[in-house]
Amino acid sequence: MIEFDPERERFIALFATKLKELRKTPYAQRDIRELERFAGRCLDAVKQAVDGDRAKLERFVQESALNRGKEGFKAWHVMQGFDAFRDTAKMVRWSDCESFVKLDDVLHWATNTYVRVYEELLTERGLVRMVESLTLALEAKEKYTSSHSQSVQKISENIAGVLGVDIGLAGLFHDIGKINVPDSVLTKAGPLTEEEWALVKQHPYHSFRIVSPIYPEAASIVLRHHERPDGRGYPLGETVIPVEANVVSAADTLHAICSNRSYRQHQKLDFALEQIREKKGTQFLPEVVTALEKTYGDMAGFLTELSAE
Ligand SMILES: [Fe+2]
Ligand SMILES: [Fe+2]
Repeated sequence: MIEFDPERERFIALFATKLKELRKTPYAQRDIRELERFAGRCLDAVKQAVDGDRAKLERFVQESALNRGKEGFKAWHVMQGFDAFRDTAKMVRWSDCESFVKLDDVLHWATNTYVRVYEELLTERGLVRMVESLTLALEAKEKYTSSHSQSVQKISENIAGVLGVDIGLAGLFHDIGKINVPDSVLTKAGPLTEEEWALVKQHPYHSFRIVSPIYPEAASIVLRHHERPDGRGYPLGETVIPVEANVVSAADTLHAICSNRSYRQHQKLDFALEQIREKKGTQFLPEVVTALEKTYGDMAGFLTELSAE
């Protein structure tokens, strides 16, 4: 069993300082407190991996590959970050030799994973696969009954087809920004406080940040998937909503209602449609509601398929 909890604060301070000293990398431009927060998250993920559960570290590495790329980080900058972690670990006290060997194994694995993910990111298929795996991890925490993003993509494509517009892969990417919302907020069972709700409302903006450099076609749509024609949406509160964004918005609402376990299966689609019709002109553009109604048959089939899984 690894034991370096008593050294936590010292480790974080040392690691953050080492990152700050990597002069030729963007780490050097970061605020030291931001680096300390990063160091803390990194340490937690590595510790869990040393204890045998690598899932958190894998997600951390995937997020790094996505987020760092657009912040001006090159792969070798991130590799230097891994080296700084290893160097820091050597400087703090370790309970035994075996723990250190384990840690080295984990860091080696994390570096390889990073390289693989980074290379995959350069292809569209790899990008889609990674976004899928990240959203699946997110959705496991939120209480959706089946994979939300893929369903929203499918439903959006149906509606967009009737309207003759193209949403690209915006359905798949729309909630990816939730990776920047703290887990404690995402998984909270009770009602959210005002501050927590404010964090959640930032997710379309984060989706936009993540998606713009790698998939610019979908960026404006993901940013606006919670906007409403009556201006009561977020994060911008605009009143002129691109039809594509409102298509994803309607698909999002439809799927959220249909995957709610408290409604009976055969009533769900009708109930969802009723809810969406009620918000025609306020939350949803009239043409989007009309298009959604036209896809009723396809939608019923698709939702039945989903619930059978
Ligand atoms: Fe969303
Ligand atoms: Fe969503």
